[in-house]
Amino acid sequence: MSNARTEASYSRLQHGDALENLLHEDRKFAPSAGFAANAVVGAGVYAEAEADRPAFWARQARLLLDWDTDFGQALDWSEPPFAKWFVGGRVNAAYNALDRHVENGLGDRVAIFFEGEPGDTRTYTYAQLTEEVKKCANAFESLGVAKGDRVAVYLPMIPEAVITMLACARIGAVHSVVFGGFSADALRSRIDDAQARLVVTADGTYRRGKPSPLKPAVDQALTAPGHSVEHVVVVRRNGQDVDWVQGRDRWWEDTVGAASAEHTAVGHDAEHPLFILYTSGTTGKPKGILHTTGGYLTQTAYTHRAVFDLHPETDVFWCTADVGWVTGHSYVAYAPLVNGATQVMYEGTPDSPHQGRWWEIVQKYKVSILYTAPTAIRTFMKWGREIPGRYDLSSIRVLGSVGEPINPEAWMWYREVIGANAGNHGEKKEDPAPIVDTWWQTETGAQMIAPLPGVTATKPGSAQVPLPGIAIDVVDEAGASVPDGHGGYLVVREPWPAMLRGIWGDPERFKETYWSRFEGMYFAGDGAKKDEDGDIWLLGRVDDVMNVSGHRLSTTEIESALVSHPWVAEAAVVGASDETTGQAVVAFVILRESAPSGQDSGDATVTELRNHVGKEIGPIAKPRHILVVPELPKTRSGKIMRRLLQDVAEGREPGDATTLSDPTIMAQIAESLATRN
Ligand code: WT7
Repeated sequence: MSNARTEASYSRLQHGDALENLLHEDRKFAPSAGFAANAVVGAGVYAEAEADRPAFWARQARLLLDWDTDFGQALDWSEPPFAKWFVGGRVNAAYNALDRHVENGLGDRVAIFFEGEPGDTRTYTYAQLTEEVKKCANAFESLGVAKGDRVAVYLPMIPEAVITMLACARIGAVHSVVFGGFSADALRSRIDDAQARLVVTADGTYRRGKPSPLKPAVDQALTAPGHSVEHVVVVRRNGQDVDWVQGRDRWWEDTVGAASAEHTAVGHDAEHPLFILYTSGTTGKPKGILHTTGGYLTQTAYTHRAVFDLHPETDVFWCTADVGWVTGHSYVAYAPLVNGATQVMYEGTPDSPHQGRWWEIVQKYKVSILYTAPTAIRTFMKWGREIPGRYDLSSIRVLGSVGEPINPEAWMWYREVIGANAGNHGEKKEDPAPIVDTWWQTETGAQMIAPLPGVTATKPGSAQVPLPGIAIDVVDEAGASVPDGHGGYLVVREPWPAMLRGIWGDPERFKETYWSRFEGMYFAGDGAKKDEDGDIWLLGRVDDVMNVSGHRLSTTEIESALVSHPWVAEAAVVGASDETTGQAVVAFVILRESAPSGQDSGDATVTELRNHVGKEIGPIAKPRHILVVPELPKTRSGKIMRRLLQDVAEGREPGDATTLSDPTIMAQIAESLATRN
C-alpha cells in the first residue's frame, strides 16, 4: 500500500538485531551419497534452466503433462504483467490427474488414503477417484454448470473437496475454495465477488471429536436477495440436521451418486482459468487470485517432483494443509495426482484424540514425504519429543516446510526428532531425512525458493535457492540487486509458469499491487536477505499482511471488521511475534461513548469484539488480545504508526515517536494499559 509503511518495516528489518543474529548459520547438511544417487533431479538442472528459461519450462510441460493439443510459443510476455504460457496448447487438468494414470495401467494404485477425524477411513485408487470425478462432472453439468462458470467450495478436508475441484477443472468451471474456517460473511463476499453459480458444502465436519456445522454458514451467506447461486450441493458428513431450501439444495449422494460414470475430458486452453483463491492483501478487501491451467499444472507438478524427490511408485506423500489454502490446492488437489503419487489426506487436528495423532498416521501409512508448517513443528516441540518418539517414523525420507519462516531451532528439531527417527523407541537414523524449506505464495501458485534435496547442502532456517527456471532476487529501495550479506525486498525478475494471471475482476489492482513498486519486477511483499553464501533468508512481510500459524491475515481487514462494530470508534491491528504461531493478532481500539463502561465491562467488551471479528472474517482472525486505549499514535498526516503499537504489543519500550502528531500519546497508552492490568 503506502510506501511509507513499507519503508518503515524495511528499516526495522535492516536494523533488527535479533534478525541479524538469526541470519548467521554455519551448520550445513549435504545430501548423503545414497540419497543423491537416487535423486530424481541432479545439479545440472540449474544450468539447463538458466540457459533458456521458457525452453526449460516447455520441456517440463511436455514431460509432465499430456496435452490434447501441443502448444507453440512457451511464453508470450508481450503485454506485461499479463503472461501467457504454452500458447495455443490445450490440456485437461483432471485428465492429467486421473484418467491417464488409469489408461497407463495404474488404476489400482492408491491415490488417496483418507483418514477422517473420528477415525473412519476411506481409500481411493486412481480408478475409483477417476470414476467419482466423472460422476461429479456429470452432476455439475446437469445442474447447469458450464465452462467458465464459478463454483464456490466450502468443505472440510474430505475427499469430496478434491473430487469437486477436479470435476470443476474437468468441465472448465472455475473453483473458488473458501476455507471452512471462514465465516458466513466472508463466504458471502467471496461468492458475490466471483458470482458463483453453485456452492458445494457439507452438513458439517468434526472438530476435536465433536460434530461441527458447516451448512448453516452457507444458508446465512445466501440470505441476501439477488445472489448468484442457483444450487447448493451438500455432502453428508456428520449427519447433523440441516435446514433445506427446496429446489436449491441437493444432497451429494442423490446428485453425484446418481450420475453417470462416463465422462470424456476435453482439453481447455492452457490459459483457461482453473481457479480463484481469495487471499488477504493490504486493503480490507480480499483479492481473488486467478490461476490458469497449463503453467500452473506444469510448475506445481515439477516442483512436487523435484523438491520432494518424488518417486511415485514407492513414496507416500502427506501435505497437512487444508484445501482452503493454496498449499492444499497445489500440493493436495493437483500436483500429487498429476504426478501419479499416493497421498494421505487427514480431516482433523494434530491433538485429537491425542497429541501423537500425526505420528500415528505417518506410521500407519508409512508416509515417506511430509509437508507441513513451522507452527505445527513448534507446537510439537512444546509437546515434547517423547510423543513422536513412541512411533515408528522410519518411513520418512523427505521433510518439507512451508508458510512462514522456520527458525533454526525448529528446523533442527524437525531433523533430529522427526527426520532421524528410526523406530524402535529412540533409535536414530544415520542419515536423517533432508529438510526442504519452501518459499512461495498464493500468488506464485507453486514453490519458488527451496533446496533440491539430492543437490543442495541444506541450512537450518534458510529457504536458500531459487528453483531452476525461477528468477528470484533481493533488491534495495531503487530496485538494484543487493550483494551477498545484505537485505532488501524479495522480487521475481522473470515471469514463471504458475504465476497469478490477475486479480479477479480488477486488472488495475493487479498491476498496482505487484508490478508498480519496481519497474518490470514482481514485488512479493516479503523482506529477505542474502547471506555470505548467497542463500536467501525470508524475513517476513514488509506490508500490512500478518502471518498467523502460516495463515495470511490482513491488518486492515481486521481493523475494518472491528470498526464495523457500533462500539468501536477506531482500531489498529498489529502482528506481534509469537513463539508458536509466528505472529499473533493484537488489536488496539478506541471505544465510542455508546460502549458499555464501568468496572466490569472490560472483559465483556473484549469478548464481544473478538466474537465480532470471528463473525465478520472467521475464528482464525480473532485477535489474541484487544487493548482498549484512549488514543492511537498517528503521524501529522494521520497515518497510524503501527510500528509503535507493535513495540507495545511485543512488550518493548516504544521506539522513536518524534513524528507523532501528539508525542505524549505513547505515554497515555502505556498508562491506560498499566491501570487496566
Ligand atoms: C506468505 C504467503 C506458500 C503457501 C502458504 C502461504 C510467507 C510462505 C514461507 C517460507 C518464510 C514464508 C511469506 C509469503 N511464507 N512460505 N518458506 N519462509 N515465509 O501462502 O498465504 O499466500 O502466504 O507466506 O511471507 O509472502 P500465502
